Amino acid sequence: MSVIKYWGKRDEKLILAMNESISVTFDPTHLCTTTTVAVSPVFDRDRMWLNGKEMSLSGRRYQNCLREIRARANDVEDETKGIKIAKNDWEKLHVHISSNNNFPTAAGLASSASGFACLVFALAKLMNVQEDNGKLSAIARQGSGSACRSLHGGFVKWVMGKEEDGSDSIAVQLVDEKYWDDLVIIIAVVSSQQKETSSSSGMLQTVETSTLMEYRAKEVVPKRVIEMEEAIKNRDFSTFARLTCAENNQFHAICLDTSPPIFYMNDTSHRIISCVEKWNRSVGTPQAAYTCDAGPNVVLMARDREAATLLLRRLLFHFPPNSTDIDSYVVGDKLILKDAGV
Ligand code: DP6
Repeated sequence: MSVIKYWGKRDEKLILAMNESISVTFDPTHLCTTTTVAVSPVFDRDRMWLNGKEMSLSGRRYQNCLREIRARANDVEDETKGIKIAKNDWEKLHVHISSNNNFPTAAGLASSASGFACLVFALAKLMNVQEDNGKLSAIARQGSGSACRSLHGGFVKWVMGKEEDGSDSIAVQLVDEKYWDDLVIIIAVVSSQQKETSSSSGMLQTVETSTLMEYRAKEVVPKRVIEMEEAIKNRDFSTFARLTCAENNQFHAICLDTSPPIFYMNDTSHRIISCVEKWNRSVGTPQAAYTCDAGPNVVLMARDREAATLLLRRLLFHFPPNSTDIDSYVVGDKLILKDAGV
């Protein structure tokens, strides 16, 4: 989930962003994509199933990932299983891919990010590609921009890069998943419905029509990225929360400044945000941060377990699960659920 948002491309084909971005990768035990890849000489074409339903692999993004991984494939030999595939054979062999999300797909919970990251990683393993996750991130990026960040755990920055071919536009890990383990993430699943405007077409419309976009990409985000990196490295929750919330609100303001306007958040998202804002103000120091990507689901990050318990109690009081407002909550820690009385 991004805390500094990627929105707007400077190169549509290579998927190069107009600004740097930072995200946090969710704990895979709660939200993840599982991708299995099989290869066989009897397969007559590449095929893929997403959540059990066959989908086309003919799109440019899938083709880019498959081509780039195949170009880096190596010999694979496993005597115990009787497998021997020479480097050059990978060009002729076809793959079958099965990918499953344990969370709503295309509902603004970064399913394309985890999907392409997982796909590239699985293909690289299968074809014995030796590149590290940084290099693989430049391939995942060509599937979906945000996917480049999801190859790493913890907090991750997508570096803009300067090269025209995008080879240095990669993701780097800022800190690993254990570094800031006080932080607790709670996801309020407001809607599992697919979003009306995809991120790709939404950001293209924004770049074409928003007069605020250029100011954001050039003036606001570069400074925010530096401040955010500092806050993460210092585990400075107050600064982190201030920046995350401001970034969320500016991103959605930019969406509104698009013609026609794009509404990703809905009334429930707004009410959840108000609830957090009021609480933070009443305590005096931020206890929780909020952010939504291209959809109404709200990702909340609490300062620590105690704050998470209090936050969850508040949310459950105002927005009971399975009500008309909220489908469900995803909470990273069973103890918090217990403490909150769930
Ligand atoms: C709002 O990575 O889905 O989640 O590169 O066109 O596939 P494409 O877009 P995508 O956009 C994600 C946008 C965002 C913000 C973010 O993740 O930084």
